[in-house]
Amino acid sequence: IFARIVCVIIGYGFGLFQTAFIYGKMHGIDIRKHGSGNSGTTNALRVLGKKAGLITFIGDVFKAVVCSAFIKLLFHSDSKMLYIYVLYAGLGVVLGHNFPFYMNFKGGKGVAATGGVIIALGDARVTLIGFVLFFCLSLITRYVSLGSIVAVTSLIISTFVFNQTNHPVNHWPTHKENQIEAYILIMIFIIFVLIRHRENIKRLLNGTERKLGVKEA
Ligand code: G3P
Repeated sequence: IFARIVCVIIGYGFGLFQTAFIYGKMHGIDIRKHGSGNSGTTNALRVLGKKAGLITFIGDVFKAVVCSAFIKLLFHSDSKMLYIYVLYAGLGVVLGHNFPFYMNFKGGKGVAATGGVIIALGDARVTLIGFVLFFCLSLITRYVSLGSIVAVTSLIISTFVFNQTNHPVNHWPTHKENQIEAYILIMIFIIFVLIRHRENIKRLLNGTERKLGVKEA
């Protein structure tokens, strides 16, 4: 339990690197006062432009990947538990990203950070499905929130499906109780994303959600 708490705390620290907020500040703008008010890739793109969107996406994905690399280095001797530790650290990153204390706990929605965790977990199939769903749905429907929700939700489905085959997800824990723990943790990622997108979901349902490519001041 101690190691799990350490992972969450380290993750929270990494999550505090709020790319959109920092980029905005460097350009004299508080991203949270513009567009959707979210400090994330979509709103950076909407308010600050393509370069800001790209940098935010890369920065937020990267912090989760770097954090996981750090966790792997820290716990490499405990290889059976690495999958679980990366999940805990990833939850920490999402918490730090969504609720950074220095921004009055008003951060982002944790989608790119979750993407980084998916990469770090190290199964190319699960990663590919998530990213392809995200980009295709976001680009086709122009609703990034929809792409985000579906992509993150796909994580539990693809993990479960691959685990029923002869080629389970890479690094999947071998003990039954750890497997259940891993599924619960993945569900928590999905619940976080759904809760953070509740306003987006309402807007999607009544047709007022912001579309990709519409710039806002
Ligand atoms: O990644 C966040 C995205 O899903 C929605 O962002 O700014 O449209 O609420 P936004």
